[in-house]
Amino acid sequence: MPVYLESRRISESADAGLALAPAAPCAPYGTSTPFGSQRSRPKRPPVRPAFQGRLEVLGRAQGLLLRAHENRRVTFDELINTELAAQCIQAEENGLVTLDGPKGIPLRSRTVQSLAMALHELMTNAAKYGALKQPNGHLALRWWQETEAESGKPWLQLDWKESGVAMPPLGAKPHGRGQGRELIERVLPYQFDARTTFAMEADGVHCTISLPASEHKVAAHPGVV
Ligand SMILES: Nc1ncnc2c1ncn2[C@@H]1O[C@H](COP(=O)(O)OP(=O)(O)OP(=O)(O)O)[C@@H](O)[C@H]1O
Ligand SMILES: [Mg+2]
Repeated sequence: MPVYLESRRISESADAGLALAPAAPCAPYGTSTPFGSQRSRPKRPPVRPAFQGRLEVLGRAQGLLLRAHENRRVTFDELINTELAAQCIQAEENGLVTLDGPKGIPLRSRTVQSLAMALHELMTNAAKYGALKQPNGHLALRWWQETEAESGKPWLQLDWKESGVAMPPLGAKPHGRGQGRELIERVLPYQFDARTTFAMEADGVHCTISLPASEHKVAAHPGVV
């Protein structure tokens, strides 16, 4: 595939940045993908080993951080849009994936990579088991900023809600190593004092993440969307 080779070549060149470009284009609709070919499933990049996918997320997050500078922070909408684009997922009103949240919530720089990884784990899980795989699935992602009463500091609130998913029986063992849940339920709270929940509800996964946001006032910027 010439495009694949070309983008690999560019992202491997010395100054091209850290994996800013996806390593491969999205496959066209109707081809065989991890999502199947039903409904308007997202166009998918070719399946990559889990390790490679995780490495690429870190590269993309690093790329966003490199483009931010002293007067700017990476914002949550940049991060989510970057990850959705990398997974070839298009959010649209009444579509398979809906997004609801403001632009411009600034993230603390040290949280960007881990938050990117958490979003990646949620998306990968949804693609392997949940709303992005199953024919009646739907994913609603909402986010907003709140001021914590005690400290007066800003927190980012995320609500990831899948629905229309036939779920595994209660108490079923993870198919993989369980790294996705581990990151969300244990690593984020440990690293950043985040408050998280991950529930296997009757019709899909419901995950919430509350994370200290940056207190930096974000300057308007042309931005990566
Ligand atoms: N979106 C989802 N829809 C339905 N079931 C899910 C979803 N996400 C996770 N699960 C279930 O929860 C289990 C634990 O998820 P987790 O991400 O921790 O592990 P994994 O994806 O199986 O392996 P790993 O993340 O280590 O590659 C999964 O094996 C699956 O059974
Ligand atoms: Mg997983």
